[in-house]
Amino acid sequence: MNQQLWEGICYLRKEVSSWNTIPDFCCWSPLENKVYLNEAFSASTQPLVFIHFKTAPSTLQADEVHLLWQNDLQFQILAKGNLEDSAITFLQAYLPYCFFSIIAKKRKSAFTIAHFAQTLDGKIATESGHSKWIGNEENLKHAHRMRALCDGILIGRSTLHYDRPKLTVRHVSGENPSRIVLGAKASDYSCLTEASDDPILVISSQDAPHCEKVKHVNLPAANGRLHSNQILECLYEQGVHTVYVEGGAVTTSNFIKDGAIDVLQLHLSPQIFGSGRQGIQLPHIKEVQESIQFSNFFFQAVGNTQMFVGHLKREE
Ligand SMILES: NC(=O)c1ccc[n+]([C@@H]2O[C@H](COP(=O)([O-])OP(=O)(O)OC[C@H]3O[C@@H](n4cnc5c(N)ncnc54)[C@H](OP(=O)(O)O)[C@@H]3O)[C@@H](O)[C@H]2O)c1
Repeated sequence: MNQQLWEGICYLRKEVSSWNTIPDFCCWSPLENKVYLNEAFSASTQPLVFIHFKTAPSTLQADEVHLLWQNDLQFQILAKGNLEDSAITFLQAYLPYCFFSIIAKKRKSAFTIAHFAQTLDGKIATESGHSKWIGNEENLKHAHRMRALCDGILIGRSTLHYDRPKLTVRHVSGENPSRIVLGAKASDYSCLTEASDDPILVISSQDAPHCEKVKHVNLPAANGRLHSNQILECLYEQGVHTVYVEGGAVTTSNFIKDGAIDVLQLHLSPQIFGSGRQGIQLPHIKEVQESIQFSNFFFQAVGNTQMFVGHLKREE
């Protein structure tokens, strides 16, 4: 069932990407690839899912699923119809990400979701840069699902160098996102060009040597560092309305410093390095009250481990 639901979610996300405003509700048949705005229809195949964006309906039919979007990371379940608990959990985990392109359109800047697989002491790699794999297989699948739900996946130049990633969705079904690398220094993009023909965009503050299959965008920067809002506005203009920021530490920390991350996902791997590369690196604070706070957060099961998911207030 979850595989069919997953395909329905991918279909819904694509449909939503053409919406410019939030409707009152939509009626979605995940198994029949149909979605109707502000209109109910009967599906020959159950389940029929109603997603309400503004208010809860006054009457609910027992065999229908009704969800209320709180313009946040979670849906309130008003009715679960005949769906099993595991399907409801799956919907709750991935459905919200279908709708964030609408927020990006309002801002004219890409919506950002950052992810790290980190040890219990907050490390994302050993001192030598080794990180394969912190976390479990289920987290790898999760990351690939998130890639499929975003228009773009973004990494820093050092992650390209150390990890030689493909940045595709090969562990799940779905479409590959555009691949984005931040950084000015010369890089070898062959791990990306050989993996797929999907677009590769390099954003940096300096001209880069011409590389076939790689589009380069040069933005003005202060001391070589691009402001995150500039990057996200540039991505929006390139048609990347939702972006999955997969690190490393310098890249994600720069986004957090600039108040430019919407959702932070931290997969907690039951390991301790006691040394190594700290995932989030920010200027020192003196008092606990100066810490970054989340407007909403929860823990989500990832196989036999947990992932922290928190919503941050973006600086406009
Ligand atoms: N466990 C995990 O989830 C995970 C995920 C990803 C990576 N990693 C690990 O993280 C390590 C790499 O992380 P890292 O912190 O060393 O480097 P990184 O963040 O991957 O890359 C840093 C580089 O990206 C460019 N960059 C980032 N932000 C920029 C900005 N705002 N403006 C301009 N350029 C910007 C700069 O490139 P230039 O110097 O060329 O200007 C910078 O030196 C690797 O060991 C990798 O295995 C772990």
